[in-house]
Formats: sequence, structure tokens, C-alpha cells
Amino acid sequence: MTDLTTRWLDLELRSPLVVGASPLTDDLDALKACVAAGAGAVVMHSLFEEQLVEEQMAAHRFIDSRINMDAEARSFFPESEVFEMGSGSYCRRLELLRNALDVPVIASLNGISPGGWTQYARELEEAGAAAIELNLYDLAPDPSDTADTLEQRQLAVVRSVVQQVSIPVSVKLSPFYSALPAFVAGIEAGGARGLVLFNRFYQPGMDLDELELSREVVLSSSAELPLRLHAVAMLYGQTGLEMAVSGGVHAGDDAVKAVLSGASVVQVVSAVLADGAGALARINREMTQRLSGMGYQSLAEARGALSMENAPNARAWERLNYARLLHGWK
Ligand SMILES: Cc1cc2nc3c(=O)[nH]c(=O)nc-3n(C[C@H](O)[C@H](O)[C@H](O)COP(=O)(O)O)c2cc1C
Repeated sequence: MTDLTTRWLDLELRSPLVVGASPLTDDLDALKACVAAGAGAVVMHSLFEEQLVEEQMAAHRFIDSRINMDAEARSFFPESEVFEMGSGSYCRRLELLRNALDVPVIASLNGISPGGWTQYARELEEAGAAAIELNLYDLAPDPSDTADTLEQRQLAVVRSVVQQVSIPVSVKLSPFYSALPAFVAGIEAGGARGLVLFNRFYQPGMDLDELELSREVVLSSSAELPLRLHAVAMLYGQTGLEMAVSGGVHAGDDAVKAVLSGASVVQVVSAVLADGAGALARINREMTQRLSGMGYQSLAEARGALSMENAPNARAWERLNYARLLHGWK
């Protein structure tokens, strides 16, 4: 049977299936079931820059309220309505998960501007995070922000988080960079160890009867996987960063394709939210059967076999093939 152990961010994982950042953080029983079903690690949901900045503001407000500040001035500060879980309860949750689960627990920070909030990375390390996943979820709404200023700002965030901790840091990206390999080189130079490809954007739905936006989260399908496979296959061999595929892993073959493209691990969220830990057990079983059937002794042997660097017909990944495909369509 294929040896499924893998290295991810300096961690020895018994399986490449990782429970990705999600509300499952709050359900210990579900996470225990995921680990029993074969998960090799767990990522907690994110602690957001906005939460941490608000926490710092609250601390300042408290201090200010003890000094000479009148009520009117204090009312300029907004009260927090956005998030309930600050860094204290996040760290307590992290400690609980770390003690209850016998796989590494990875904490997630989510932010896009360099600033004091990145110092919370150290608290996460002290609370026992095995690594930190930094999610650069940026919608780039400001027309005065060029690709370069935005990327430089994001790289400053990466450097700042990396500098706070001695544990490894991975960076979770959106697919929308005009020159992904160059940006990835900047992330590597900034000291990160891994890449998580990709974020999914959560767009509001439109309620046409009420003429308003509706908040909804649509779970993924395997149709979202090829975008990730292409990026991983392109970057494999070009970057020293380890890679995780996040988005569209629903079946064993999805996970196998990610590994053949060059991924060290795959993160699974939607499949687990839809079908529980049984989904992980199924993906694990299907993946093992497929890799054994292909004659691979280990995951390491399979990794990158169909990347741009190694695939026998690697041109299929390239632009020329796109042109051929479009012309050849019947
Ligand atoms: C309900 C829900 C909550 C999520 N929360 C987070 C989060 O806090 N931080 C984060 O980086 N990603 C979060 N994600 C994104 C997932 O980690 C993952 O990247 C995405 O769902 C794609 O993987 P999938 O196709 O397996 O679902 C969330 C996804 C869902 C569905």
C-alpha cells in the first residue's frame, strides 16, 4: 500500500488530507471524527485583522477611559459588533484543540495591511500552533491601488508575520495575480515556507424579488479544482515553497491530481461540511486505492509527476495547447 506520509511546513503528516480553515474549529467532536477518518492536520478558522485591530482599539479605549477623556470624544470609537472571538478565546480554543487532537493544529491569520495586529502571530505560537496560515484575502477595491502597491503591501504583511514567529508560515492566496510566479518569489524571499492555492471568493447573492444582496456561502465542487492544478503544476520546481491545494477536492482522484501536479497536501472543507468526516474517510480510501493501482510506493514518488517540469506531454499545460484546443473544437 502507498505510504501516504508527507511533509508540510516542517511537519511530518501521516496523510496529505488536511481539514482546511472552516467553522469546524468550533466542533471538537467533528474534528476528532475527521482525525479518526484520516486527516493529517487541522487548520483553524481565521482570526481577522479587523478583529485584532478592534481588540487593540478596545484596549486603548479602556486606558483612555481611565484618563481624562470626555464621553463625547470616546463616542468617536465604534463599538465592536463584528466578531465575537478575540485573540484570547482563539488561543484558548487552539490550546484545547492541540490537547484533544493528535495531529498538528495550524492557526490562521487573515489580513492585508502591515501593522501592529501581526504581532498576534506570536501569541498563536505561544498557544501551541504548529504553523500559521496567513490568508491575504484582498478584494482590491481602490482604483488608486496598482498591482505593485497592493503586492508590496501584502509582502510587507508576510515579512511582518514571519518575523514574529519561529514556527513556519504558509500564505493563502487568491487566484487573481497578474504575475503569480513573481509574487510567489516575493513570498519565498519574505521567509514563508508554504503556499495555499487558492482562496475562494465569497460573493453575495442577489435577491431579485427584494432587490437586495443576500449573504450566502455556496460550497465548492470538483469543477473548481483545475484552476488550482494549473497553478501548482506551473509553480512546481520553480519555487522552494511547499504547496497545498485548497478548493474543489471532493474525491480521491481530485487529491491524486493535486499531488501529481506538485502539491504536498490538499485541504478539504466543502466535502466535510456537506458529508461530515465520512467524506474524508472516502477520499482517503479512494486516494490510496488509486495511488497503489498506479504502482506508487509513496506520495513523494507521485508528487509533481504531471507538473510542467515533469509531465511527458507538459506542453498540454501551455498557451500553445490552448490555441490548438480552441481551433480544434468541434
Ligand atoms: C463556511 C466556510 C468558512 C470558511 N472560513 C474560512 C476562514 O475562516 N479562513 C480561511 O482562510 N478560509 C475559510 N474558508 C475557506 C476554506 O478554507 C477553503 O479555502 C475553501 O472552502 C475551498 O475549499 P473547499 O473547496 O474544500 O471548500 C471557509 C469556507 C467555508 C465554506
